[in-house]
Order: sequence, then C-alpha cells, then structure tokens
Amino acid sequence: MASVAVIMADPEQSEERLKHESVALFQEIDRGSMCDEIVGSSGALQKVLSLVSKVAPTDATVLITGETGTGKELVARAIHRQSRRSSRAFVSVNCAAIPRDLIASELFGHEKGSFTGALQRRLGRFELAEGGTIFLDEVGELPPETQIALLRVLQEHEFERVGGTRSIRTNVRVIAATNRNLHVAIQAGTFRSDLFYRLNVFPIEMPPLRERREDIPVLVEYFVDHCARKVGKNIRGITKESLDFLRSYPWPGNIRELQNVIERSVIMCETENFSIDKTWLAQQPLATEPKIPVDLSKELAAEEKGMIEAALRQSAGRVFGPSGAATKLGIARSTLESKIRSLKISKNSFKEFAETIPRRSCLESLE
Ligand SMILES: Nc1ncnc2c1ncn2[C@@H]1O[C@H](COP(=O)(O)OP(=O)(O)OP(=O)(O)O)[C@@H](O)[C@H]1O
Ligand SMILES: [Mg+2]
Repeated sequence: MASVAVIMADPEQSEERLKHESVALFQEIDRGSMCDEIVGSSGALQKVLSLVSKVAPTDATVLITGETGTGKELVARAIHRQSRRSSRAFVSVNCAAIPRDLIASELFGHEKGSFTGALQRRLGRFELAEGGTIFLDEVGELPPETQIALLRVLQEHEFERVGGTRSIRTNVRVIAATNRNLHVAIQAGTFRSDLFYRLNVFPIEMPPLRERREDIPVLVEYFVDHCARKVGKNIRGITKESLDFLRSYPWPGNIRELQNVIERSVIMCETENFSIDKTWLAQQPLATEPKIPVDLSKELAAEEKGMIEAALRQSAGRVFGPSGAATKLGIARSTLESKIRSLKISKNSFKEFAETIPRRSCLESLE
C-alpha cells in the first residue's frame, strides 16, 4: 500500500526507483547464482548459522565482524534471504571503495545541481534498497558527516538527499560489516561510539578459518567440484598429501584465499587426482608476514594516539606537571614528547580546553 501511495504522490520518482531497484535485483540474481551456499559443519560455523536464523526474521541491525575473507558478506546475504524482505533488493555498498566526498551522495542520493557534476537527480542506495536490506561493508571507513547521517537513519528512519531539503522516510534493514577493530577507531576518535552502539544491536563474529580447520576438507571438496565444473574438468579425488597440507596451512586470507588457491590448482590440474603445488602456499605466509605486523602496528598506533589525545584533552594540552598528560598516562615527559612528535599530534589544538579547567591547574603547567 505504501508504495502505491508514493506512486500517486510522485510518479516520476517511483518509476526511477523501480527501474533502479530492478537493476539492483538483476545484479543480485546474477551474483546469487555463483555461490551463496555456506559450507562447513564446524561448531564455530554452526554457532554463526544459528545466530543467523535467529536474527534473520527480525528487523534488527546486525554488525558482522571478522578477518578478511571469512564470509561476512555471505552471512549478510543469508540473513537477507531468510528474512521477510527476501523478495526485495539486497544492496551492497563497500564504504572503503567509494571516494569520501562521494559517499553521502552514493548512499543518500543527490538533487540536481547540488554539486558540480550533479547534472540530474540521482537516487542513493538507501532508496534503491527500500523495503529490502542494505549491506554496508567496511563501515569503519565512513567519514564523520556520513556517520551522523547514518545514525539519523538508524534512529529516525529518515534522511535527506545531498542538496535536498525534504526528509525522506526509509524502511531499510541495515547490516554492517568491518574487519577493523571499531573499539580502537572509537578510541582514536575516527568512529562515533553512538553509531557503534546503534549498529552493534546484534553482533556476529566470523571465526577465522584456522580456528575451524575441520571445515577445510568439505570446503576443498566444494570448491574443487565447483571450479572443475566451471572449467569442464573431471576431477575424482585429492591426494592425501595435498589435503594434509591444506589442513595445516594458516590461511591468513581465510576462505577467499582457499577458494583462489583451489581455482588456480584446478586450472593447472592435468590428471583426475587433484593436487596442490605447495610452493604457491609456502611462499604466501612469507609474502604476507610483513603485512600483519604493519596492520597491527597501525592499529596500535591509532590506539596509542587516541589515549594520548584523551589525556591531552583532559590536561588542556599540558604535557608535564602534576596534572599534565605524562603524569596521567604514567610515562616520562620525554617519552610523551617524542610520541607526540612521531604520531603527529598537535598539542595546541587541546589548549582551548584550558578555559574550562580551574585556574590552579593552569598555573601548574608553568612549572
Ligand atoms: N562457509 C563458506 N562456504 C562457501 N564459500 C564461502 C564460505 N565463506 C566464504 N566463502 C566464499 O569466500 C569468499 C569470501 O567471502 P566474503 O566475501 O563473504 O568474505 P568477507 O568476510 O566479506 O571478506 P572481506 O572482509 O575481504 O570483504 C566468497 O567468494 C564467498 O563466497
Ligand atoms: Mg566483504
């Protein structure tokens, strides 16, 4: 009924939405026919699937966390498929892949002339997902102003197009995912804690493949079968040596990495017995090893920066003295000074807080 009312109110707009929605649905059908099956029987995966079936029929917002390639998008699609919204669109948006200055228009649409290049009105992904589900992948990458707009959608179920003045009501279920630690992002001041709590209504954590190794044989069989059919090969078995090797490998890229290795091996395979060329994998952990500490050190640096900034804020930019940031953090003044330099923190930006603290504390900073 609601959509009929919209058609009456603004036929042009509804036609545009329907056209876009059917494109979105076609893209879905196209993608869905690839592999949307969730394979595995480990306890860890069963737990996830039980959460999926519990939350799917509700309209609750879901936050899926987990390492890259663990199946976050697959789980989001499963929630949509098992929900009463399944006949409507599932619209997936990778927030990290869209330039920051275009993300608001991409999500909420824009009015003609709202910025250079906005030659006509364009519907955003929320309008395309009307009645269905929107999947916000890499949600931790959203810029601050878009975080506020998303918070409004979650709280009030409305938004405005970029350059628009009219609020648009929305009925879209939000599923978000991230492989970043949002607590660290909150500490560092790059992610709003109120948005986090709104998204984290129903958290689902995807276990990495190395913690559910019992799923490896069945995944291997599934991918070998799928890939062999795709390239028209007849593969009957896998050598024990290869399977043992696949079982023991740590899989930093999780299921996506396993899928890719198998696809490559099937293409190379010249017999009916499938085997893996170990050198491909043996080299991979080495190749990815430096990446893990780099990412970790980035996260740690962000956490450290967040803590230092919080201490500087409390001490109105003072580094030393009894109520200075160094004392609050329990570290030497020289250590803090060097960290402030290396983390490129601007002490001066915290000076404005000086007005709100008692005069005695300001004097302490002159020591
Ligand atoms: N349990 C599973 N059974 C079958 N295929 C799976 C399973 N889990 C993941 N896959 C496949 O692995 C690939 C990666 O999954 P997906 O894109 O959902 O991961 P992701 O967690 O969203 O990764 P990223 O964080 O990199 O976006 C996809 O091709 C997906 O179909
Ligand atoms: Mg993904």
